[in-house]
Amino acid sequence: MSGSNDHIGAAARRYGKATLAEAVARLRDGGLVAVPTETVYGLAADSTDAAAVAEIYRAKGRPDFNPLIVHVSDLDTARTLGQFNERAAGFAAAFWPGPLTLVVPKTEDCPVTAAVTAGLDTIALRVPAHPVMRELLQVSGLFLAAPSANRSGGISPTTADHVTRSLGKAVPLILDGGPCERGIESSIVAIDGDDYRILRPGPVTAAQLETIAGKPPATARIGKIEAPGQLASHYAPAKPVRLGAQTAMADEYHIGFGPVAGDMNLSEDSDLAEAASLLFAALHDADASDRLRIAVAPIPETEIGLALNDRLRRAASPK
Ligand code: TXA
Ligand code: MG
Repeated sequence: MSGSNDHIGAAARRYGKATLAEAVARLRDGGLVAVPTETVYGLAADSTDAAAVAEIYRAKGRPDFNPLIVHVSDLDTARTLGQFNERAAGFAAAFWPGPLTLVVPKTEDCPVTAAVTAGLDTIALRVPAHPVMRELLQVSGLFLAAPSANRSGGISPTTADHVTRSLGKAVPLILDGGPCERGIESSIVAIDGDDYRILRPGPVTAAQLETIAGKPPATARIGKIEAPGQLASHYAPAKPVRLGAQTAMADEYHIGFGPVAGDMNLSEDSDLAEAASLLFAALHDADASDRLRIAVAPIPETEIGLALNDRLRRAASPK
């Protein structure tokens, strides 16, 4: 984290004891707080408070058919909200705390307000690894609904400054914990009895899941949008995006990778994890640049490269 506060917007405040206490008070009072996780910044509210959850949808301009992820401290707490069979518990044991969201059947007495799950009988649960989010969960004792802290359909935020630029005055407090280490949203996995399906590729790869499960994921049901983050246009900059670009035109901001230098380079060493951590910041910068269009170098379709290409295809999809 840099020593200067100059770039920080009015609502963004460096994480510390006092700001954490203020965040807890605001959340208990039904307010919204933007908070860093290891993936992207989330826009958090008490998931049992219908009015607070309605505020999330309003602040993001998010369609109300798109359900939210609920963040909890540990698997025991998660079990009060969702039903964990052996398959789900196995994944939780292997990857929590971490960038994996599990979609499981809700418990019968699940206290989460209906809007969080958008009327589904399943719930998306995650135990995040970021120390600021973990402390917020532990100190508040709340189950925090938190989508990415951006306007619906826009680029996800990996710094407090991105949150300020995307949501502006809609968020009264942003806990600034520096840039997010992973930089790309959690993998979302739906549990279906003994089977599992990857609804959104992310930092936990198919190969890692297969190692734990001892079998590959079932294929997603064709034609059915199961996680609305799967909508064709999403994570979208305002400018047109061209993919697979070895070279760029004069009016294009070129996002490079490996040997393709670009105006900026996601990873000169072709390290996909490093590239993931920088992708959304690069799209934010490209969008804010004086070039009219964005070109992106080819990214290999392996490991977390699958998640990068998933986000890039949606970013490039016509709005
Ligand atoms: O890394 C992340 O997951 C970040 C951080 C803040 O935790 N959160 C995030 O939230 O990316 P959001 O709202 O941008 O994406 C959540 C995705 C949406 O695509 C939503 O459709 C899906 O999770 N989802 C939530 N509940 C679901 C459910 N019951 N069944 C299927 N998909 C669900
Ligand atoms: Mg999002």
